[in-house]
Amino acid sequence: MTSSGLNGITAGSSGISTVGQEGVGLTYRGYSITDLAADSTFEEVAYLLIYGKLPSQQQLDAYKKKLSGMRALPDALKNLLEALPASTHPMDVLRTGTSLLGTLESEGEGGRTAVSVGDRLTASFGSMLAYWYRFHSRNERIETESDEDTVAGHFLSLMSGKPADPLKRDALDTTLVLYAEHEFNASTFAARVITSTLSDTYSAIAGAIGALRGPLHGGANEAAMELVSSFDSPRDAEKSLMHMLAARRLVMGFGHRVYKNGDPRSPIVKELAKRLSESAGNMSYFDISERLEEVMMREKGMFPNLDFYAATAYHMCGIPTAMFTPVFVIARTSGWIAHVIEQRGDNKLIRPLSDYTGPEPRAYVLVAERG
Ligand code: COA
Repeated sequence: MTSSGLNGITAGSSGISTVGQEGVGLTYRGYSITDLAADSTFEEVAYLLIYGKLPSQQQLDAYKKKLSGMRALPDALKNLLEALPASTHPMDVLRTGTSLLGTLESEGEGGRTAVSVGDRLTASFGSMLAYWYRFHSRNERIETESDEDTVAGHFLSLMSGKPADPLKRDALDTTLVLYAEHEFNASTFAARVITSTLSDTYSAIAGAIGALRGPLHGGANEAAMELVSSFDSPRDAEKSLMHMLAARRLVMGFGHRVYKNGDPRSPIVKELAKRLSESAGNMSYFDISERLEEVMMREKGMFPNLDFYAATAYHMCGIPTAMFTPVFVIARTSGWIAHVIEQRGDNKLIRPLSDYTGPEPRAYVLVAERG
């Protein structure tokens, strides 16, 4: 039996998260996403995913210090970031940066493991993005250190060149918690397939970034922003959306392979988007988004996924649209690493079968006789 897109197929077992499970919902290592989003931080969650348990205060402090100490970029990487075209998509910046770092700081050398490679990437992705962005958009060569002690604060302050605004920093931090892990989604599965061949962690992460880039997966937050920002008002949004639906076009930021009755992360990120918009005194994108949500429910019975309101939240944090999916990468690296470790712990090459739909067996004809 085949299943288009492996829909509904259980492709392995995992002890990292539950997604859409009846009566359980979304949990990371058994903790509900609602509790984690309300009371934890991204660093706590990354530690939980990678090490399997919540850190003590002392462990958390040490982990944050360790990440803060891994933000610097080698000169060869800075040179590469400068050499990349200004028109490069920042997802390609991260994919390329990951590949280069994999040659400069290879796994296996200097005692490097999946955990230390993951920490290094989580700590330095913000530096890579900001270095590339500030060099190409403002002609500046920035220092990649900051006084911020969180991944969210570091990214915001490096991007803007100013200390991170606490409201935006905390909102971004919560979205990182929401984005950190999601079971066998396409990019995580890609990372596990690569890992299953006994390849290295950098290759798994670079492949996962490639999978996340597409608009049916992580790229949806960027695509949702393009949609929302294309409307002048909620009224205009409703009218255009009705045309889109009549033309059977996909509406980015809606629908989900697993969640058919709502994404539990969506109300949390919606609240963040609202709070940020109110604080900025600019409800325009939020109001348009809410109208799109109402119309999608009324016309299609469809709910927004995490990416939909993440778009407005990130916009209100002052993050450029092309950086939305890269921010998702920063968060999801912790989930990917947890899966790399789990896959290695009980590895079996992932190699499914396909149903053949090609020509019947036929005789080979020499090229000179083919006419
Ligand atoms: N807008 C409009 N219609 C949608 C839709 C959307 N965002 N998502 C699904 N549909 C429709 C499909 O066209 C299909 O209609 P049909 O039965 O008349 O052909 C029906 O709903 C079922 O969708 P299906 O393609 O089976 O869902 P899926 O599980 O394969 O796809 C997604 C899931 C996420 C790929 C899909 O919902 C989508 O493309 N969403 C937009 C991109 C997005 O937001 N991605 C981020 C996911 S977190």
